[in-house]
Amino acid sequence: METEATNAVTMTSQMKAAVVQRYGPPDVVTIEHLPRPIPGPNDLLVRVRATTVSSADWRIRSASMPYGFGFAGKLAFGFGVPRQPILGSELAGDIVAIGAAVRNFAVGDAVVAFRGAKLGAHAEYCCVNANTVVVPKPAALSYITAAALAFGGTTALDFFRRATLRAGERVLINGASGAVGSAMVQLAVATGAYVTAVCSGANVEVMRQLGATRVVDYTRADFALEGIQYDVIVDTVGNAPYARVRYSLTPRGRLLLVLATLPEMLRAPWVNTTSTHRIIAGPALERAEDLRTLVTIAADGRFTPMIDSCYPLDRIAEAHARVETGRKRGNIAVEMHQ
Ligand SMILES: NC(=O)c1ccc[n+]([C@@H]2O[C@H](COP(=O)([O-])OP(=O)(O)OC[C@H]3O[C@@H](n4cnc5c(N)ncnc54)[C@H](OP(=O)(O)O)[C@@H]3O)[C@@H](O)[C@H]2O)c1
Repeated sequence: METEATNAVTMTSQMKAAVVQRYGPPDVVTIEHLPRPIPGPNDLLVRVRATTVSSADWRIRSASMPYGFGFAGKLAFGFGVPRQPILGSELAGDIVAIGAAVRNFAVGDAVVAFRGAKLGAHAEYCCVNANTVVVPKPAALSYITAAALAFGGTTALDFFRRATLRAGERVLINGASGAVGSAMVQLAVATGAYVTAVCSGANVEVMRQLGATRVVDYTRADFALEGIQYDVIVDTVGNAPYARVRYSLTPRGRLLLVLATLPEMLRAPWVNTTSTHRIIAGPALERAEDLRTLVTIAADGRFTPMIDSCYPLDRIAEAHARVETGRKRGNIAVEMHQ
């Protein structure tokens, strides 16, 4: 009897998590039973209902950093093995416990959180500091939709803010059908910009539905050779460096390198001081105000994160494989079944 009681306690304090013990292909992701995290004084213990596998999870799991960032990537995420074996940067779920110092949330609240580089969302439970990027989830938003708001959405908001995107400007988004690109199309349209989306033929119609004024199928045409100029060009693919697109920028045009190689990053200050163009690159800021904005505009229907597909936690390795194709449409969601 005593053993059974002990086991019962042990089982209830355990959780399933997707764990990455070494860098490698999707099958290095395994499902394991781990102790549930214990919230500190400022933490929320969130029962995760949905999360995503993002391009960042793919990059970390496979140690595939943009050209020139291999060392920085290992420095950030661990040299021999991943320092944080549980990946996942965004989540939506319910608070099941709070630390003694938490005043702004209560047990039972539904929340959306962006963990960013702290990761840890690919688990049934996750501790989130109540003073970080975590906001209430409105009932109007499903857990899956809410979980897919932050990665693309906060990147889009931060880059557009740094570029001071204005209504009436012409914006071209290369890689418009990815998680970041599809958020950028919608948020640029919401700002009143005229959007040209660049994607393959399979995604042309979806881009129109998101509000793109023009769509360029990159398998048929090269936008940089069309002789059209844009106030803002966004590259989320990594094949639109300044040398390729400079003549497609208006005199005061801005190039937003969401995906930048190290040489492109190093070139940016030179271009910014010697030309009237501006290159904006580097990691996007993670801000609670931005997540709050995204939740608000998602709840009233002005922004809907695109969901490519949804997998149960047990099949998260398949979700990683789908991300690794580089062809996902929007976000890959992972739903917890507890
Ligand atoms: N700076 C930052 O803070 C920051 C933040 C977030 C992400 N990122 C980086 O941004 C990049 C994009 O992230 P993501 O999550 O949006 O990626 P993603 O969702 O994996 O992007 C997939 C999309 O890329 C499109 N694509 C592939 N090849 C293309 C090409 N040659 N031309 C145009 N589109 C093409 C695909 O469209 P088709 O199927 O139609 O080809 C697909 O829809 C990643 O490398 C990520 O590391 C940087």
